[in-house]
Amino acid sequence: MQIVFASSEAVPYSKTGGLGDVAAALPSALAARGHDVTLVLPYHSLVWPEHRLPHPERSGPFVTADLGERRVTGQLLTSVVPENGVRLVLVDQPAYFARRGLYDGADNCERYAFFSHAVIETCRLLGLNPDVVHANDWQTGLVPALLATGARERVPNLAGTGSVFTIHNIAFQGDFPPEAMPGTGLDGRYFSWEYLEFFGRLNLLKAGVVLANEVTTVSPTYADEIRTERFGHGLDPVLRAKEDRLTGILNGVDLGTWNPTSDPMLDHHYDVDSASEGKAANKRELQTLLGLPVRDDVPLFGMISRMTDQKGFDLIRDASAALLSLDAQFCFLGTGAEEFEQLVRRLAERAPEKVAATVGFDEALAHRIEAGSDAYLMPSSFEPCGLNQMYSQVYGTVPVVHRVGGLADTVVGATEESLADGTATGVVFEHYTADGLLWAVHQTLKLFADRTTWSRLVRNGMTRDFSWAASAAKYETVYERAAAGVAEPAS
Ligand code: ADP
Ligand code: GLC
Repeated sequence: MQIVFASSEAVPYSKTGGLGDVAAALPSALAARGHDVTLVLPYHSLVWPEHRLPHPERSGPFVTADLGERRVTGQLLTSVVPENGVRLVLVDQPAYFARRGLYDGADNCERYAFFSHAVIETCRLLGLNPDVVHANDWQTGLVPALLATGARERVPNLAGTGSVFTIHNIAFQGDFPPEAMPGTGLDGRYFSWEYLEFFGRLNLLKAGVVLANEVTTVSPTYADEIRTERFGHGLDPVLRAKEDRLTGILNGVDLGTWNPTSDPMLDHHYDVDSASEGKAANKRELQTLLGLPVRDDVPLFGMISRMTDQKGFDLIRDASAALLSLDAQFCFLGTGAEEFEQLVRRLAERAPEKVAATVGFDEALAHRIEAGSDAYLMPSSFEPCGLNQMYSQVYGTVPVVHRVGGLADTVVGATEESLADGTATGVVFEHYTADGLLWAVHQTLKLFADRTTWSRLVRNGMTRDFSWAASAAKYETVYERAAAGVAEPAS
């Protein structure tokens, strides 16, 4: 198939969270399965990684979009991802994308409207004939909308192109005031409930959901959850109306990047048979690096995260006194809400022998934490998929998670039964309260104290298959349905 994949971020070029990992790994997995894949990204020239120098060649066609009163021009910089043969198209528009923070700016609606128009124009200008265009999250919600409102008629190569829209996080909807509508470049008549409007406002995620031929989200449990009021962030009725076109497909792990046998960010490599010594060496290094007492006998809990309510920092806050009273170490890496950045800093000041806090975004440290920690905390209030609980299992680090979304689908909680049948890989708690989290941490300490059980948990996690191949095959099925669905009117 020919597939055009549109995302606002992808590693190693740009990343704020899991979308960046997925937007690199899934196109790569699809290309490995023989598909012709084009990845379209905004060109974030200021965060272009040094090891990717020089910057892409300044050649390629110009793109123009009429956004209300403004005619905006950019350029498509084309190349090929050397590792996997994916065609890479960078949309260069310095006024929109040459910024330090990826999503900085009051003009986000216009920026991503321009990007979405550029995705359509990429197909026209590069003469692509995609079977499917796959858009991701609100930033590209207008891509299915543009296809459904005239692009298929205007651009002959898109006449039979299906659209797939993936929800990575329904909490971020690209919600803008109605005055932003002209900036989308779409006719004002599309500011209606069948198209872009939602409760009097513009909602780009809703537009993607309603107008795509097929909708996916990143785990089966989250696909169920977002159809309920508790998890739908207001869009549950829209998802219920679309449920026969909604599929939950788990993300995978890119074993080229996240692999303890070859991770270039680690000094000590290990596999399932050498995990005990390998992890001990990484743990000692991590403790030294972070200024924690170097102790083998104390369990070290890691956490790498955007610091928001989603990720359970309110529970960490409420449980902090009890956590600090334990004979355990914690290391936090993250950025986000001021309140939570201060929280982890304060904990580290109060108990420097137990807590290390790094406020910032640090890819190398993230890898070292995955390798050097014994357990990994992921007490999310909601989690569409979550990647770190899977990375943790691959790295022999036992995840401690709230039973929700993708965490419920990827971690098997230790019980008598799951320990006996060899499926247990982590600790899972039910109640989203400080007590729920503390129960889970106490369980973890008990399991850690029994070395045989602990090694079994580590082994079970490390031998699970989290590779992308199975998920890529499921996307193929959805792509086929989307392409077949073009003949039918979007519902
Ligand atoms: P989300 O996309 O909701 O943030 P995921 O678990 O899907 O959560 O993915 C988060 C990704 O971002 C992981 O690869 C994680 O290691 C990475 N990450 C998050 N915060 C940081 C940080 N401060 N430094 C380095 N990597 C981070
Ligand atoms: C989102 C979700 C996360 C998911 C990631 C990639 O940011 O919060 O759970 O793993 O997207 O799909």
